Amino acid sequence: MSGKNVTEVVSANKQGVSRAARILERGGLVAVPTETVYGLAARADNAEAVARIYEAKGRPDFNPLIVHVTGIDQAQALARMPSAAIDLARREWPGPLTLVLPLRDGARLAPAVTAGLPTVAVRAPRHPVMRALLKRVAFPLAAPSANRSGFISPTRAEHVLESLDGRIDLILDAGETEAGLESTILAWRADGSWDELRPGPVDWAKPAGTPRAARRVEAPGQLASHYAPGKPVRLDADRPEPSEFFIGFAAEHGDCNLSPTGDLKEAAARLYDCLHKGAASDKPCIAVAPIPQSGIGRAINDRLRRAAAPRE
Ligand code: TXA
Ligand code: MG
Repeated sequence: MSGKNVTEVVSANKQGVSRAARILERGGLVAVPTETVYGLAARADNAEAVARIYEAKGRPDFNPLIVHVTGIDQAQALARMPSAAIDLARREWPGPLTLVLPLRDGARLAPAVTAGLPTVAVRAPRHPVMRALLKRVAFPLAAPSANRSGFISPTRAEHVLESLDGRIDLILDAGETEAGLESTILAWRADGSWDELRPGPVDWAKPAGTPRAARRVEAPGQLASHYAPGKPVRLDADRPEPSEFFIGFAAEHGDCNLSPTGDLKEAAARLYDCLHKGAASDKPCIAVAPIPQSGIGRAINDRLRRAAAPRE
């Protein structure tokens, strides 16, 4: 795809979904709403289509993609699912939970999807538009978040356009996403345990007494600097300096408030929109009020720490 191409934005109705399906069939790129963030989808069984995702995002090719499926049956054609994985999928799918599982021999996936790993990340999303699209096409969809690599994830079609205009074929616009933070990622281990690679909307607590996983960079999205708005971010701020765009929470009002009532779910849904507003403002810095570490607050603070980390 060259920068000269035109990116169309269409409403995510029946016609829009049909158009998206045709573009995907011939190997194109479509930004699709999910219940977490907008994803940048391509057919996962086609090497050229998948290569376009990496090119459009400027994503390093060692960072594997999540494969979106209709459900457990389609997932089992790609991954070996132990019974513990089937139980979890039955409980949480369709929904914002990604499972990293052993790649099945003969799985019809472009090798770049898994970046050469012996595992594959699968998720069955619950957004009705993504579900309709997955049912329409005869292949699973590889889809990272629809933003340039390292920058803030998109929760609205406008965010996708700001970041990828001219680099992708189509955006299906269905308004704001619901959860606002990327899926929880759990990796299955051969000893039968699970490691949380990324906290997210599905609250995963390890059984008491289980040691936390050793810190290793297994999901490269977990690199220290990510979700970066392109200016310094200061966390746990009680009040802003004059040079700072202030992202408030509860009674800490600010230029953008994550949730005036202190509701963490609402704060998660609004986080990236506030970071996008902070990035676009004429203030050179961003400050963020303290966010409680309970429930989805853990995932919010995880993204904020990465947004604040110095860029390498
Ligand atoms: O909510 C979401 O998960 C969104 C929507 C679009 O589904 N997608 C998303 O994709 O956040 P992305 O590419 O931005 O993040 C995927 C993460 C990356 O950190 C990647 O390294 C990790 O998943 N990942 C993918 N395959 C993996 C594997 N086989 N082993 C370990 N980590 C993997
Ligand atoms: Mg991402």
